[in-house]
Amino acid sequence: MTAALTVVVPCYKERDNVAPMVAALDAALAGIAWEVVFVDDDSPDGTAAAARALARADTRVRCIKRVGRRGLSSAVIEGALSSSADYVAVIDGDLQHDETRLPLMLAAVRDGADLAVGSRHVEGGDAAGLASPLRVRLSETGISLAQMLTGAKISNPISDPMSGFFLIRREMFEALAARLTGQGFKILLDLILASPRRLEIVEIPYRFRPRVAGESKLDVLVLAQFAGLLLDKMLRGTVPLRFISFALVGGFGVLINLAVLALAQGAGLGFTAAQTLGTIIAMVANFQLNNQLTYRAQRLKGAKAWRGLVLFLLVCSLGAYANIGIARALYAENGHGLLAGAAGAAVGVVWNYAVSATLVWRVR
Ligand code: GDD
Ligand code: MN
Repeated sequence: MTAALTVVVPCYKERDNVAPMVAALDAALAGIAWEVVFVDDDSPDGTAAAARALARADTRVRCIKRVGRRGLSSAVIEGALSSSADYVAVIDGDLQHDETRLPLMLAAVRDGADLAVGSRHVEGGDAAGLASPLRVRLSETGISLAQMLTGAKISNPISDPMSGFFLIRREMFEALAARLTGQGFKILLDLILASPRRLEIVEIPYRFRPRVAGESKLDVLVLAQFAGLLLDKMLRGTVPLRFISFALVGGFGVLINLAVLALAQGAGLGFTAAQTLGTIIAMVANFQLNNQLTYRAQRLKGAKAWRGLVLFLLVCSLGAYANIGIARALYAENGHGLLAGAAGAAVGVVWNYAVSATLVWRVR
């Protein structure tokens, strides 16, 4: 028999939480035909193996192991799309969300709500599990931003649009799937923003528990991705997010280049030598930043990173060559230095972006 409810559990390095999670679901979901799918991104600690070991003894447990990819939102999407149940719930794999709320959430959606969201911020909810005052402040800022953006998309403003704990009809998830950015941590926000019509959302309070085993994967780069998600929605997908990130990193590279140039000249180096040094350092820094941020989901490591760096330097050198060539030609034609320079730079960044995406990071 197919399950009525698929519980999607994104997990990365959560080996010690897998068995307790299944036990907790088993206790919470008595009387409901449920299954759980752990979506693991090839964690080095053997999370997938732990899930598979349980799956061999219990048909309600499944595991999707993804290789060469990382990302909470994209993991959730794949887990949800693997479901044939009527309803899909998403819950963190570290036991911070309160699984005993799931039957209530299911009842709310069965009663007609589009989405049931576990909220730490409505009466009876609690964000006690947030690790630090900084996390609390960041969380509040993010919530205000998200509330501004989602205002038009939902019938009543929700207090925790950043929640990673929710339940939705599977058909609805499927209908929205193609419009999701799949970037970063905020899959719920992504879903709400993707909806073509207003959503009826019910919030169910829960207590955010402190983490017991493992550690949080939320870091500065995840926050940068959140900013990217918001930007993407504001631009309505007209410019690819990766390009924006790539161009911002490039702009930062120009600053590094100029700073090194000034320092090296100050230290007595001639202009050409100082500028060459500045350019090389800027390109290496850009490679690092793009590898960590723009291409976080396909980050190159070890020997592949070195090979990628060399390729990146080659690609960018050609890009610089094209940039200068075009700027020169335009300048000769119309004598407008700034315009010619801007056109050259634009061609350079588009070349660098397009070629490094396929050659260096091998984006499909
Ligand atoms: N497959 C996969 N891939 N899972 C991941 C990845 C990844 O790259 N990164 C994180 N996860 C899993 C973790 O293993 C955990 O089960 C869950 O996603 C949440 O990650 P945490 O690192 O524990 O996040 P958090 O506790 O700081 O933040 C969570 O709570 C917030 C408040 O509800 C997340 O759920 C946020 O989305 C949520 O806003
Ligand atoms: Mn957590």
